[in-house]
Amino acid sequence: MRLSIHGGAPLVGSVRVPADKSLTHRALIFSALAKGQSVVTARGAGEDNLSTARVLRDLGVTIVRDGDTFTIEGVGPQGLKPPSQPLDCGNSGTTMRLMAGVLAGAGVTATLVGDGSLMKRPMGRVCKPLRQLGAEIRGSMSGEKELAPIAIGPGRMQDGMIRLDVASAQVKSALLLAGLVSERKVTVHEPSLSRDHTERLLSAMGANIVSLTNAGVPGVRCGPSELTPIQLEVPGDFSSAAFVLSASALIPGSRVTVRDVGVNGTRTGLLEIMEELRVQVRVSKWRELTGEPVADVVAQASELDARQAGDRPTVVAGEVVPRLIDELVVISALAARARGRVEVRDAHELRVKESDRIAEVVRLLAAFGVVVEGKRDGFIIDGPQPLKAAHVDVSSDHRVALTAAVLALAAPGISILEGFDVAAVSFPTFVADMRSLGARIDIA
Ligand code: S3P
Repeated sequence: MRLSIHGGAPLVGSVRVPADKSLTHRALIFSALAKGQSVVTARGAGEDNLSTARVLRDLGVTIVRDGDTFTIEGVGPQGLKPPSQPLDCGNSGTTMRLMAGVLAGAGVTATLVGDGSLMKRPMGRVCKPLRQLGAEIRGSMSGEKELAPIAIGPGRMQDGMIRLDVASAQVKSALLLAGLVSERKVTVHEPSLSRDHTERLLSAMGANIVSLTNAGVPGVRCGPSELTPIQLEVPGDFSSAAFVLSASALIPGSRVTVRDVGVNGTRTGLLEIMEELRVQVRVSKWRELTGEPVADVVAQASELDARQAGDRPTVVAGEVVPRLIDELVVISALAARARGRVEVRDAHELRVKESDRIAEVVRLLAAFGVVVEGKRDGFIIDGPQPLKAAHVDVSSDHRVALTAAVLALAAPGISILEGFDVAAVSFPTFVADMRSLGARIDIA
């Protein structure tokens, strides 16, 4: 799909964005592992979530979809059936890594595969600790790297404790789920806290989850548990809202409210950076939905300024990084228009996302006339730099495509984005939602 975007039109009004992708994956998987019927409403779920539903169906779980509502007939932790063909996780790292934990823990013989991007992503980070716990699981070696296809068989799981080198909600969740389905006690420590949706939702479903956070080192243990079915309405995805809020901040005359969005603190590091960049952003109407905080978030056009006291740059590093890991691409768009320097560090993980997001930030912003210095573990941008309309291929990665759209909406003139279909991985309603706010977007 090719988009033609006329930049500069102010965005005004309010929208809801698709259901939180992370939470929807978990709601589908945990419902399958409960015994009985669960109902999950996930507005505008994207392709990644549909990959999870497909994989669960291939394992014998009945999932009926009626519009945004998924009715799942949970089979219990030992009820998954060995599939007759490799399980296709599409573009979704969360599907592959969480299901690796579930299947390895349950000892179901299966093979996990994905699309071209997913087959290049590191799977040793999940296979190795699962083997340490006694699971039979092996990726395909490519030199030192362990990649998909991942082959799983009947192992002998034991209790265990794993310390992760990198904060990762996917790996943490895989290990906890392996413990849950094998009825073993599994403890996971991570260097800083990654998103905690697994812990919250498993607790809400009655699992035996204990926080072991001690002296600032996050830890969690999952013991043998039975899950009760749920009725869940998944809140909007903060990571999708990030694109709408950023566009609103960048386009003069804009003021947009994103309603009913998840504002779990392990996800909202972007709000802290927006404040440092003097974006006028406000969170209101806080409430709670099945253990997750939800609110409305409004952002308006702002004079962005990255200069901190003593003319120091805005630095995005350390413990905030896992709390905005999926927003770092769109932060580059904000940084381009902010006065002063923004430095992103400690984000090596960007190299192994759906694309090499550091290389992609450099390439994408160059297409819009912005110079970015790529670093091993981040990037540096000196702003403000003028945006010029671009003609650019964005098919590498959904978050690259959506950031390209934000840049195009803010740049004067007409930009052409090739390969925008990839945005449907997380945000299939983007074009319609942005048009409803006043954006001028044509599908060419
Ligand atoms: C996710 C965790 C993050 C994030 C990804 C979704 C999840 O990945 O980047 O988009 O749902 O658990 P890591 O766990 O690899 O950091």
